[in-house]
Order: sequence, then C-alpha cells, then structure tokens
Amino acid sequence: MKSIITKIKPYSDIPGPKPLPILGNTWRLLPLIGQYDVSDVAKLSSLFYQQYGKIVKLSGLIGRPDLLFLYDANEIEKVYRQEGPTPFRPSMPCLVKYKSEVRKDFFGKEGGVVGVHGEPWKSFRTKVQKPILQLHTVRKYVEPIEMVTNDFIQRMTQMKDSNNEMPKDFDNEIHKWALECIGLVSLDVRLGCLDPNLSPNSEALKIIQAAKYALRNIAILELRFPFWRFFPTTLWTKYVKNMDYFVEICMKHIDAAMERLKTKTVKNENDLSLIERILAKEPDPKTAYILALDLILVGIDTISMAVCSILYQLATRPEQQEKLYQELKQVLPNNEPLTPEKLNQMLYLKAFVKEVFRMYSTVIGNGRTLQEDSVLLGYKVPKGVQVVFPTLITGSMSEYVTKPQEFKPERWLKSNIEEKIHPFASLPYGYGARMCLGRRFADLEIQVLLAKLIRSYKLEYLHKPLDYKVTFMYAPDGELKFKISKRNE
Ligand code: HEM
Repeated sequence: MKSIITKIKPYSDIPGPKPLPILGNTWRLLPLIGQYDVSDVAKLSSLFYQQYGKIVKLSGLIGRPDLLFLYDANEIEKVYRQEGPTPFRPSMPCLVKYKSEVRKDFFGKEGGVVGVHGEPWKSFRTKVQKPILQLHTVRKYVEPIEMVTNDFIQRMTQMKDSNNEMPKDFDNEIHKWALECIGLVSLDVRLGCLDPNLSPNSEALKIIQAAKYALRNIAILELRFPFWRFFPTTLWTKYVKNMDYFVEICMKHIDAAMERLKTKTVKNENDLSLIERILAKEPDPKTAYILALDLILVGIDTISMAVCSILYQLATRPEQQEKLYQELKQVLPNNEPLTPEKLNQMLYLKAFVKEVFRMYSTVIGNGRTLQEDSVLLGYKVPKGVQVVFPTLITGSMSEYVTKPQEFKPERWLKSNIEEKIHPFASLPYGYGARMCLGRRFADLEIQVLLAKLIRSYKLEYLHKPLDYKVTFMYAPDGELKFKISKRNE
C-alpha cells in the first residue's frame, strides 16, 4: 500500500508550457504576441501531445482554472466513469455570464443545460431529457426532416453553376439547412431559410448570422485574455445583443406553438411534437423557451460543420461513396420516401459517419471539471482543474485503434471483430449523464441528408485539397465547391 502512495507524483510535476510570472500562460494565447494561434485549437492540442506526452498542464491562465490535456483513453474512461450525478463540463463561460448575470431575470434558477451546472442543470435536464431522447419522438421527425432536405437538394440543383458545382459559400447554404431543421425540432416552425429569394432583412438570415457570430467568437472570447470579464468589450457587447435576439426569437415561436396547442385535438402523446410535449407537461413556457435557445445555440454550427466535413470526405473518397450508393440503392430501390426502418438498414452509411467523426472529430474535444481530487496517470490532480479530452488525437492513436491512419468505415461494422477500437478513444457526442442532448436528432439529420443526396447524385470535389482547421468546430477550411451529377437509377 505504502509503495503505491509514494508513487503518486505531485501536481506540480505535470509537464506543460511554463507560465511566466504575472502574465501566466495567457500571453501564449494573446493575439500578436502569443506563441499559439488559438484560432486553431486542433494544432495546439496536437503540439502539446508531441512536446509533452500523454498529460499536459496549461497553468497560470488569468481568470480561469488550469487546463489539463489528457491523451489516454483509459484515464479518460476513468474520469467519465467517476463523474457522479452532476458532471461539470467547463464550457462557454460567456454563456454562463450571460445566463447567470446579464439576463438573470429571464433564466432564473434553472437556466437550461448549456453552461449550467450542479442541481439546476440536473433538474432542467431531467425535465427535458426523456422527450428529446425517446426514439418515438425522434421517429416522428423522419418525414419533416426529409421534406426540409428535399427542399435543400432542390436548392442545390438551382445553385449549381455551368460546371455543376456549388457556389463557394456553400457552407452558408448548409447552415441554412441546419437552421431549418433546428427550427422544426426546437420551435415547431418552418423558418423558410431555404427560400431562394431570402431578403437580407429576413428573420432566417438574421438568425443564421447571429448563430454564426455567437459561436465563432466564443474561442476568442474564452481562450484569449478574458477582458470581457472585467469590462464590456465591443465583442462582448455584440455577443450580448446577439443572445438577446435569440431569446426574442425563441419566445416568439414558442408562444405561437402554445397558442396552436390550445386548439389542437390530441388523442395521445404520439400526436405531439417535441415542443408540444414539453409545453403539455410544463405549464410555464419558460422551460420550452430556454430549451429551444439551448438547442439552437449548439444545434446549428455542430451539425452544419459536421455535414461540411462528411460531404467533403464523401466527395474525395469515390470508392467509399460508391459503396454507400450501392447500399442506398438496395434499401431504396425506387428512391422511395424514408422511414425509420429503412434508415436502420443503412449500416454502411452510419459506419461512414462514425469514421469521419473518428478521424476528423467535429467537436475536437470534450472535458470535465474535476469535482474531487483525483490521480491521473500517476499524478495527483486537485479538484477544480479542467480536464480536456482531445478526441481528435485519441481517435487516431494506434494503441487504441487498429491502423488509425486508414480511413475504413468497415471497422465500425459488427462483423469486423478483429478491429480494435477503444470505446473511449472516439466519443463524438461525449459520454454519460451530460452526453449530447441532441445526438439522436443530429444523427437523424445527417442520415437523411446523406441518404437523399447520395441516392440521387454523385458528389465530387475537383479542386486543391482542403486542410482542416478549427474556427469553432473542426472542419475543412475553404470553399466547398462540390460538383453534383444526377445518377440515372
Ligand atoms: C454532429 C453534431 C453534433 C456533435 C458532434 C455534438 C457533440 C456534442 C458534445 C461532444 C457535447 C458534450 C457532451 C458531454 O459533455 O459529454 C454536446 C452537448 C450538447 N449538445 Fe451536441 N452535438 C451535435 C449536435 C447537436 C444538436 C443538433 C443539438 C440540438 C438539437 C445538440 C444539443 C446539445 C446540447 C443541448 C448539449 C448540452 C448537454 C448538457 O450539457 O446537458 N447537439 N454535443
């Protein structure tokens, strides 16, 4: 027993960039003079691993706890499994400030799930989790999401140029599709984002811009020196204005949904949409307002960046795309409408998506703030430290995944038993009680889009290969000028 205790090394021994007196490590993240480019957090995370190994401490960050990067799937598993009933994900301090200080009047005691912790998080999540994750709620959305997606694909055919290529800002169009989907799920409304003649003052375009603005600036607001904590910087003031706009939009559409519900004939729960279920159970519409806000805040950029990445991989991997097409032809011989049963048969499609997430994880890492003192990789780590799980790196480590540099969707198929994949090396949606609340909808939206698009069109990318980069999410950096060609059968 004694020998084990003496082996535990002190926290101060954990390797990492050395903080400078007074400035700490924040200077490394400051624009211009900083050593690291925070606009590419993926490179930073990979650099730390190469320089320091499986555990790396970034300490002395002004205004925030130490960050501890952990590149070990067994230890990541340990942290997840010990996280207790109210896991603490250290995300979005700006949203925390907005919800708990700036608009405390509105959010009150139960401010939703994103950026909320402890009992208030648990109580809110318990209220909304069941309807959101229930399979029969999600099944109801196959048809509406297919309709949105059909409109999107039709729009793609109108957008293509004389070379049958998408415009250079095609990622914006994907954003519009994502917003149209999230509008259906969280606000019960078709926002009309796919209208080809969207006016610059339209609500849909304003929401897209607001969402983009809020999310893309989070890395800057949160990782660089947090001036906004001390006084309202220009970026912070704009952030607050944007958030206020979201709140307003959510209230407007949820109020309308509530009015419709009053006159709706309901025979059983299955007649209700997700938001109607919440409204039927919770007399105070605030739960629905706040839920809608949270879903919109995290459900647009995540899904649209994931789709940019998945489409890019499909377009640049003709062999795998052909396999997917053959599967789709078999499941949908007459290109018939989708059903949950048909989606269930698309095993290669799901494996392809998992493989993209493993090699190019859209959310490059997850994390937990330790709520108890712990021992990680032989070091004592005090509670309060923010442990980062760099999924993007661990998903490509050969000790956890067989031949990780090979892009091989088949590794995810059950028949492939010789493939090694550590269950905690690649977790695109996180794990445990705090796992992604929108994952079933995210999967559904991705599956519907791929099934509809690849069943009818061949997708190519005939330009210089793109690098991946993190703005907020990890995605190809550049113009997604995909070429689409109609398939004959
Ligand atoms: C491919 C797209 C997506 C990815 C990769 C993704 C990934 C994640 C990850 C890694 C987390 C943290 C989980 C944890 O701490 O263990 C998370 C949380 C969350 N996600 Fe997603 N997500 C996606 C799409 C969505 C969508 C479409 C929605 C909404 C409909 C959504 C709603 C949420 C919410 C509300 C949380 C916070 C849950 C909580 O803290 O209780 N996500 N997501």
